[in-house]
Amino acid sequence: MQTIFRGRHFINLEDFTKEEIETMLDVSMDLKRKFAMGIDTPYLPNKTIFLMFFEQSTRTRNSMEAGIAQLGGHANYLDTSTMQISHGESAKDTAVILSRFGHGIACRNCFWQEGNKYLMEMAKYSSTPIMNLQCDLYHPMQGLADLMTIEEKFKDTRKLKVSIIWAYATTHKKPISVPVTQVLLFPRFGMDVTLAYPEGYELPDWVIAQAEENAGKHGGSLKLTHDMEEAYRDADVVIPKNWGNWVTNPGKEVIDSLLEANKAWKCTEKMMQLTSKDCIYMHALPADRRNEVEDSVIDGPHSVVFDEAENRLHTAKAVMTLIMGGK
Ligand code: CP
Repeated sequence: MQTIFRGRHFINLEDFTKEEIETMLDVSMDLKRKFAMGIDTPYLPNKTIFLMFFEQSTRTRNSMEAGIAQLGGHANYLDTSTMQISHGESAKDTAVILSRFGHGIACRNCFWQEGNKYLMEMAKYSSTPIMNLQCDLYHPMQGLADLMTIEEKFKDTRKLKVSIIWAYATTHKKPISVPVTQVLLFPRFGMDVTLAYPEGYELPDWVIAQAEENAGKHGGSLKLTHDMEEAYRDADVVIPKNWGNWVTNPGKEVIDSLLEANKAWKCTEKMMQLTSKDCIYMHALPADRRNEVEDSVIDGPHSVVFDEAENRLHTAKAVMTLIMGGK
């Protein structure tokens, strides 16, 4: 067990060792058990965290706000369009000021080729930890909840076939941060990851190279394919989810000819019949129902999406407890 977390930034799970991530999951499970038993967990009394959102959120905002309240602290929710950021105040000045007022700053900024840089700039100048609530590249809070969910369902994650599968959606041009986080993280826990997507929806080359290195070190593997059925076949875990073609087309338009050419990339009951009998269906949510997935799958016996979403609360509390409190 690794215990030195206090004061560290939480921007990318690659910054934490496997043992440290296991500690985060241990603490998450302890908090989950205590929450179920109604045992109070006032580990961050009178601590203030600032939650800056450049984009909308349901799970992330509320897991952080509910989480800090349950830990005895307080969150200031900040819609950045109401801050002086909208008049051009810099990341540096914002970080210096907010860090003098409280004990942690968490931020969601998913703008392509800007979000991660913004967080890193804040981290350079903040005197309190910066926590990533999703940027253009990483969604570590989601990755941790996903890993917790897989461990809960299977206990031993080694050699599980986990398929991260692109899916058609029209709601908005989604960041690549969820599949990037998963493809980097899961091989570190011995999983055999298949990444399936239509041509044009590639993740950055450096992500694939890092994921392969992670797999080599930890006994997992990574396979890339453009064959959707291959990804579903005998999978233990399927994660069909849309992401934008940011790498090949940084434009902001949601619907283009490449997207429309790939409507068939949908998670259907027929696809689920190819998987292993006990396969779980996961999705970070929100789902674009009837485009990404049939209702009968997301509401069906394989789906664990609400357990996965609940784990966002327990993992958020663990991260805040370790980073803002602890030793
Ligand atoms: N999965 C996730 O981050 O959900 P929100 O966008 O609602 O926070």
